[in-house]
Amino acid sequence: LMALVALLNADPDVDGILVQLPLPKHLDSDTVIQSTLPEKDVDGLHIINAGKLATGDLKTGLLSCTPAGAMILVRQIHGKDLSGLNALVIGRSNLFGKPMAQLLLNANATVAIGHSRSRDLPELARQADILVAAVGRAEMVKADWLRPGVTVIDVGINRVAAPEKGDGKFKLVGDVAFAECKPVAQAISPVPGGVGPMTIAMLMANTVIAAHRRGGVTAPSF
Ligand SMILES: NC(=O)c1ccc[n+]([C@@H]2O[C@H](COP(=O)([O-])OP(=O)(O)OC[C@H]3O[C@@H](n4cnc5c(N)ncnc54)[C@H](OP(=O)(O)O)[C@@H]3O)[C@@H](O)[C@H]2O)c1
Repeated sequence: LMALVALLNADPDVDGILVQLPLPKHLDSDTVIQSTLPEKDVDGLHIINAGKLATGDLKTGLLSCTPAGAMILVRQIHGKDLSGLNALVIGRSNLFGKPMAQLLLNANATVAIGHSRSRDLPELARQADILVAAVGRAEMVKADWLRPGVTVIDVGINRVAAPEKGDGKFKLVGDVAFAECKPVAQAISPVPGGVGPMTIAMLMANTVIAAHRRGGVTAPSF
């Protein structure tokens, strides 16, 4: 696998490399991810790209796709400047929670990050104008966690039994109890069909950006 990444790094016809996670257990994902060239790291997970985001440089690196896509959804509702708005991100993974919190902070939101050791998530959630859930627990966020008019971004993907579809069938649900939360929220992203497609779109956007940069021409912004 490392040899393949080295080959793709060196290939002038390749603009972007994505390490599809999770890797099999006997492989160390981080070693593989860090071996991709930062300028081809279209998933935005290389430490150089993560570091640029952490230090507020959103121009010269590549942004992690899922948070970048989630921010476009937030921007559609609130615009670019989130001054005065409280945001809660539930989940603190390197893959999503941390970069999402950094993007929201960069857009001037007042940001809290909740996780498994947080004391009272429902209470924290009720203070949020923007609530982003990335936990991996089916329908954890309930309607009584929400401040009326909140914008909810549901990142979670959970496979749950769906006996109504037949024996042994499954369906995908998010981390937010969509049906009960929808009437309370100003805007809410569905699962499936919300953040997932945005992630794929941002992967293409990052690839386009990487290709422009490698070609020495000004990259579009998304
Ligand atoms: N739509 C997409 O394209 C996309 C992309 C990425 C991820 N996802 C989905 O998003 C979800 C999260 O992904 P991830 O990679 O960030 O997962 P992860 O690395 O497993 O992180 C989960 C986070 O949730 C927190 N958590 C777990 N149980 C909790 C609880 N009961 N209360 C509060 N916080 C809790 C954990 O806290 P601790 O840190 O304290 O353990 C951790 O920070 C998953 O369902 C994943 O499939 C979707």
